[in-house]
Amino acid sequence: MSTTGEIRRVTTNTLQAMKQAGEKISMLTAYDYSMAKILDEAGIDALLVGDSASNVMAGHETTLPITLEQMIYHAQSVVRACKRCLIVVDLPFGSYQGNSKEALHTAIRVMKESGAHAVKLEGGAEVIESVKRILTAGVPVMGHLGLTPQSIYKFGTYTVRAKEEAEAELLLHNAQLLEQEGCFAIVLEKIPAMLGKKVAETVKIPIIGIGAGKHVDGQVLVMHDMLGITNNFSPRFLRRYANLYDTIHQAAQDYIGDVKKQNFPNDKEQY
Ligand code: KIV
Repeated sequence: MSTTGEIRRVTTNTLQAMKQAGEKISMLTAYDYSMAKILDEAGIDALLVGDSASNVMAGHETTLPITLEQMIYHAQSVVRACKRCLIVVDLPFGSYQGNSKEALHTAIRVMKESGAHAVKLEGGAEVIESVKRILTAGVPVMGHLGLTPQSIYKFGTYTVRAKEEAEAELLLHNAQLLEQEGCFAIVLEKIPAMLGKKVAETVKIPIIGIGAGKHVDGQVLVMHDMLGITNNFSPRFLRRYANLYDTIHQAAQDYIGDVKKQNFPNDKEQY
């Protein structure tokens, strides 16, 4: 809040200042208006309109099938809900890897059509031309290294990445490259905590971890996982802050029972 009572928007500069001040950054995913409004009003620093929407909203096994149009639809809903937090949108698989011109076109569509504040894309040196081109158009870019779900068919498994020295060195090199080209932050997914610490200490931009340990500059989780809406996914890094699967399941059963027994509606719940 500002001194005049206005809500002050979190920006990429705010995140940078938080890193410098040693204040940890809180980030969650969001895909729809109602949930994004609750998270923004709760004081979340940043929301990621993640391509994990492909899993948790659409029921796909991977993040690969989601389209640019679908990402823009989710991003528009989140943007309409939020007054304070920074909103970052994932560029979907196949929309930026091919050539940098296409990447720029994708990023511009996301920014123009959704009103979000930044984009995220997966990879290091292999996508650096796309990163550079998007940045030259004034669009803030967040990187994503470590386990990059859009490459799951290359990895073959969702296990911890960069446990071996060569992969860890490459990851550090890619983080430095993304910083040097002007990315404002990087997500590190499912890597050893000590590597997360090393990267966060080496680069000046904020490092947001998901399964990257406690020494990085902030944390992100998939909202459906941390709220316990999903109940079939339990990686070590996940802490569940609620068990909404059970709450919703019970509420639905209570409602069904009341309808069947003619307990709902009662005399006061009708006109
Ligand atoms: O799409 C997503 O939810 C993400 C997070 C795992 C960081 O990229």
